Amino acid sequence: MEREKFSSRLGFILISAGCAIGLGNVWRFPYITGKYGGAAFVLIYLFFLIVMGLPIMVMEFAVGRASQKSIATSFNVLEKKGSKWHIYRYFGMAGNYLLMMFYTTIGGWMLAYFVKMVKGDFKGLDASGVEQAFGSLTTDLGTMLFWMLLVVVIGFVICSLGLQSGVERITKGMMVILLFLMIVLAVNSCLLPGASEGLEFYLKPDFKKLTEYGLSEVIFAAMGQAFFTLSLGIGALAIFGSYIGKERKLTGEAVNILVLDTFVALTAGLIIFPACSAFGVDPGEGPGLVFVTLPNVFNNMKGGRLWGSLFFLFMTFAALSTIIAVFQNIISFAQDLWNWSLKKAVLINGIAIAILSLPCIFGMTIWSDFSILGKSILDFEDFLVSNNMLPLGSLVYLLFCVTRYGWGWKNFLKEANTGEGVSFPEKIKVYLTFILPLIVLYIFVQGYVSLFKSL
Ligand code: ALA
Repeated sequence: MEREKFSSRLGFILISAGCAIGLGNVWRFPYITGKYGGAAFVLIYLFFLIVMGLPIMVMEFAVGRASQKSIATSFNVLEKKGSKWHIYRYFGMAGNYLLMMFYTTIGGWMLAYFVKMVKGDFKGLDASGVEQAFGSLTTDLGTMLFWMLLVVVIGFVICSLGLQSGVERITKGMMVILLFLMIVLAVNSCLLPGASEGLEFYLKPDFKKLTEYGLSEVIFAAMGQAFFTLSLGIGALAIFGSYIGKERKLTGEAVNILVLDTFVALTAGLIIFPACSAFGVDPGEGPGLVFVTLPNVFNNMKGGRLWGSLFFLFMTFAALSTIIAVFQNIISFAQDLWNWSLKKAVLINGIAIAILSLPCIFGMTIWSDFSILGKSILDFEDFLVSNNMLPLGSLVYLLFCVTRYGWGWKNFLKEANTGEGVSFPEKIKVYLTFILPLIVLYIFVQGYVSLFKSL
């Protein structure tokens, strides 16, 4: 059977961007940037996006498009006989599940905030009242369970509608409106009285701040954020490569997606940091940052309740577009590998994801005393994915594409450069083969060293 394709190029770009754009941009990017000192961190992050994220994204798309398969069998199609690259599929898939194990909970917070905004729950609250409201949500087991389950159900229902009528149609519209909304909110935030201090924190690099945490920890965090924001290394982008035709070279498509993703992250910072200084919120506040800053913005904005409702609605959409993309990957895995029907794959994985999402919520409530490596369950799951599975998985894609033991440079290049548009720069082969893998490994090891030192 011919593989179902996207109906348009725009569909592909917006869906892949939808997979990239999500909580990573609006929730994780601001709080990690806030934690690691602002503008200087942003520069390091952008550096990694370009020198690591971009080439690896092209490689994932190439593997997907050449094999016409998801990660379940893509390596089998392309690898040399007798080699074992395909075993990576299980680790890659584990990365998809692990990402969802906390993503669904934060997605649930977004949805809960949308409803709170519509109901006017934040009206009249000052900054500390807003903070308390967030505290009550994140200690309330039943409420968090409810929203998380709702997010899981919505995600799987959309996937069960199939590729074009479900995933593509719904994601496309969401992305366009989100981009527009964010620009309006960024302008509004930057005009708040007291915004300038936050803007300076966000835009004027102070390299001294990097040493406060230790340079290797900051670089480790920036690399993790770069991989997280593009969902690299777990086949979540590769699958979309399998749904496109050969009309366009892949580098240009990857650049488009990177630009859109970076635009949303940087704009999220422009919404949040000016608001931090305007309302006296500490930018290093942690995972709650977006939730304790934004209701203040809306409280002080003309028509704030409407804007706030729209913002959280579209943020929920952005989270959902990632969830749908990852679910799609998980569902196709079961379909490709075990020949499950769509219905069976949706049902079984839906239940599995719902159960696997429980520890994150328990970690904030009934298991709140529990910590691993000094981290809460949410932070630990995030750490496993962002700082371990995504970088190491990306390394697998990288080595697969550049070495002759894998698919090989020539095959990769031919696939990446099929069609019209920008070619992949051949000259960077030495960098990709010998330097980039070492950089990833070095940062990885250093990150662990500084983690254990800090315990
Ligand atoms: N790339 C996804 C995000 O940024 C995981 O939310």
